[in-house]
Amino acid sequence: MGFVFRPFSRRQRQLLNWWRPGSGHEHQRFVLADGAIRSGKTIAMILSFFLWSQTCHEGREFIVAGVTSGALKRNVLLPLFSMLDALGIPYEWKRGEGMVVIGTNRYFLFGADKDNAQDKLQGMTAAGAYADEAALFPRSFIDQMIGRCSVEGSRIFMNCNPNGAYHYIKTDFIDRAEEIGLYRLHFTMDDNLTLSPEIRESYARSFAGVFYRQYILGEWVSAEGAVYPMWDDRENTFALEESPEAAVPLRHMRRFCAVDYGTANPCVFLDVRDDGRTFWIVNEYYWDSAARKRQKTDAEYADDLTAFLGGDRNAQIIVDPSAASFKAELRNRGFRLQDARNEVREGIATTAVLIGNRQVRAERNRCPCLLREIHGYLWDSKARDRGEERPVKDHDHAMDALRYLCHTRTTRFRRAGGHDA
Ligand SMILES: Nc1ncnc2c1ncn2[C@@H]1O[C@H](COP(=O)(O)OP(=O)(O)OP(=O)(O)O)[C@@H](O)[C@H]1O
Ligand SMILES: [Mg+2]
Repeated sequence: MGFVFRPFSRRQRQLLNWWRPGSGHEHQRFVLADGAIRSGKTIAMILSFFLWSQTCHEGREFIVAGVTSGALKRNVLLPLFSMLDALGIPYEWKRGEGMVVIGTNRYFLFGADKDNAQDKLQGMTAAGAYADEAALFPRSFIDQMIGRCSVEGSRIFMNCNPNGAYHYIKTDFIDRAEEIGLYRLHFTMDDNLTLSPEIRESYARSFAGVFYRQYILGEWVSAEGAVYPMWDDRENTFALEESPEAAVPLRHMRRFCAVDYGTANPCVFLDVRDDGRTFWIVNEYYWDSAARKRQKTDAEYADDLTAFLGGDRNAQIIVDPSAASFKAELRNRGFRLQDARNEVREGIATTAVLIGNRQVRAERNRCPCLLREIHGYLWDSKARDRGEERPVKDHDHAMDALRYLCHTRTTRFRRAGGHDA
């Protein structure tokens, strides 16, 4: 179905027309649109890139890149095709060749995550490049992409959400805009005229801490100190012994068990009840083979899990997708498994919101390792100075299990503070 065009905001129109003679920016080589999520960057930028490439070049090759090929298709190609349909412009998507043909130009498609993506880039002589969510690309891909744009009059279009203050897009592009010829357009949610106040509010409620500042306020700020500063020892815990009546409803809730598997590293199970709003972590299992000086086999771990869940085979086991041998063992024993979603950054963002909303609560006396880890779970300051955002990989096993639980089982609705059906 064709795209329904709605009025473009002033910022979107600046992005659409910057390359046209008389805009005052037509001599610049780069354009970067950064800022809040859902602020209208991608829609305006793909249209701008398409119009520019069709107006200024014939018979040329272009680079069109996303973080992964799936993200590229979802966020860029599908809206682009629906806009082309609405405008009555024909295109041909040659999937096998990873290419789209529009008019006399050819647009080569890339997922920046692929190891061989740069090899494919290497042979190209491009007249322009488009990078969606550029801050999530490896730097080497961006450098190579720029290097390939050697045709006279080539231009580079990039958009992204802000990241850490030391990220290369901030330090080497935004901060050096004048020197390198970059036109920067900063977007806020006000720049998308199609967002209703309700939708905006629900997006705002879906982020907490540093992610709120980056994704909602659009600031380039680094994550520092505690990963989960919103954790509160009173509000995020509960005690079964102190209120035995509270234990009764738990029995009727859905049960999950989140697993961070490890053999040389610690192995963690979290026993969780879900009332549709809150995850109640009632118990933990923690086996540290290094401290105990004994590694366990998959069969031993499966025995431990069976005992830990009191023989319950109906609990859904959320497990690290890479733990192939342990998964096979559990499946043989009749457990119900679900692969955990394990994107670190997105998972931490989800977990942070749930903690802030008190939608995660741990049993005060039965989860000592989880409670210890949550206070010691810090952003890695050395990685930060290199422009990367990630937690210190140390005492993070209950943290990984917690993240798997939250990120795998949370709907967008619950994340905005609602109650799942
Ligand atoms: N001019 C417009 N006409 C119609 N719809 C629009 C227009 N501008 C924005 N939108 C709508 O707003 C949504 C968000 O816009 P877009 O995807 O461009 O945001 P974004 O800034 O790239 O967000 P993110 O940072 O999450 O990728 C689009 O999916 C589209 O539905
Ligand atoms: Mg976008």
